Amino acid sequence: MMPFSQPTRIAPSLLSADFARLGEEVRNVVDAGADWIHFDVMDNHYVPNLTIGPMVCEAIRPHTDAPIDVHLMVEPVDAIIPQFAKAGANIITFHPEASRHPDRTLSLIKEHGCKAGLVFNPATPLNWMDHVMDKLDIVLLMSVNPGFGGQRFIPGTLGKLAQARRKIDTWISAGGQPIALEIDGGVKVDNIAAIRAAGADTFVAGSAIFGQPDYKEVIQAMRRQIFKGETGPSA
Ligand code: DX5
Ligand code: ZN
Repeated sequence: MMPFSQPTRIAPSLLSADFARLGEEVRNVVDAGADWIHFDVMDNHYVPNLTIGPMVCEAIRPHTDAPIDVHLMVEPVDAIIPQFAKAGANIITFHPEASRHPDRTLSLIKEHGCKAGLVFNPATPLNWMDHVMDKLDIVLLMSVNPGFGGQRFIPGTLGKLAQARRKIDTWISAGGQPIALEIDGGVKVDNIAAIRAAGADTFVAGSAIFGQPDYKEVIQAMRRQIFKGETGPSA
């Protein structure tokens, strides 16, 4: 049974925003109904692309009160964490195989006052979370290989999402803290209901939102579909 007591959150990914007008894009997308700002950090080492770092995070911070959700696609991980915390990040997630000591990295994020989480690539097994459940505020499942926006959703992620949902629900029903379940990659209006039905509560979408002229229209359409994913036959 799917518990839908969790809030749902839409987290537009700035990767597909206009980099020449980032502050304005952040304000517009939050006005359009975004809950979080998803901030993709790529280092041309862990992934073959290069994006934005703590200075850009600091620059957009005054433009919104919405939580900034920093997705680190960098290796190594630890040195950059205090810099992002100082730059105003609220949530920091990283890929466990990119850190020499994932348990220590999770603690480091929390010591710096941010929510912490692990990111799972399509081929990364979920058991990386098993022994750090008490340190997780969020689990992020990649539904594309990391590095680029505009890729196609990998359908096998739906089954993995349901597995992650079960792990999290088991943990919470045994008295554990809440853990958000976020999905990232290829999320669109036409697949978000199935993604919701599989158990996600937080939805990253880059090209689907920033690729359209009316952000509000897309975000509202996504929310209608999410509701269908909760009430439809698969729920
Ligand atoms: C990919 C990034 C994603 C990306 C999603 O490595 O982590 O956040 O921006 O973009 P779309 O929604 O276009 O697949
Ligand atoms: Zn991301």
